[in-house]
Amino acid sequence: MEKLEQLYEGKAKKVFKTEDPDVLIVDYKDDATAFNGLKKGTIVGKGVINNKMSNHIMSLLEKEGVPTHLVKELSERETAVKKVEIVPLEVIIRNVSAGSFAKKLGIEEGRKLLCPTLEFSYKDDALGDPMINSYYAMAIGAATKEEIDAITKYAFKVNEVMIRYFESIGIELIDFKIEFGRYHGQIILADEISPDTCRLWDINTHEKLDKDRFRRDLGNVEDAYQEVFKRLGIQ
Ligand code: TMP
Repeated sequence: MEKLEQLYEGKAKKVFKTEDPDVLIVDYKDDATAFNGLKKGTIVGKGVINNKMSNHIMSLLEKEGVPTHLVKELSERETAVKKVEIVPLEVIIRNVSAGSFAKKLGIEEGRKLLCPTLEFSYKDDALGDPMINSYYAMAIGAATKEEIDAITKYAFKVNEVMIRYFESIGIELIDFKIEFGRYHGQIILADEISPDTCRLWDINTHEKLDKDRFRRDLGNVEDAYQEVFKRLGIQ
């Protein structure tokens, strides 16, 4: 499978057409941004890690009954994926207080939540991805009731599978963001699952092994990505 014209370049990935109208190729970059693009940098090796990690987790999720966009890993940085229409919602699940949740509610980072939470942000860079609820999402036509129901069901399933998996490699899944797409009338998991999109803490030391090291200038950013990658045991 070959890349044809570039369709789109995002903050962390480029997307290309292929000869199959149902299939795109994503190419993961080492570029990193935070705070809606205000902070820019490079995390050397991130593209390779995010590509391989995302594919590894998505294969696991497929086995557990969550449909995903994954078609085939093509190279270290390139993967063929099903062409979806992205639902313009960032779907965030939290198990432990951190980030914007901790700040908004004044609950210290690291406090275990009594149950997982689910929230939506409306994907719009100009608006800064505002948090909305399912009624807003339906009212503005971002998703239908049926789509929200499918997204909610899959998001909690993704959480269950990922909590268990990360625990098995010594990592606590604090929270994560996922995105879904429409593919021939079905909702499937799209985008990526990586240290860019999850908060991953060492289960014993609580050391941050994710993009918060970049967002907060904590240092050892590449080491953290490499550490997660090593624990995945894929190569
Ligand atoms: P938050 O605490 O900043 O709202 O982030 C929640 C989760 O979503 C965290 O795992 C990081 C991830 N995330 C993204 O993947 N992209 C984003 O643009 C933001 C703001 C957060």
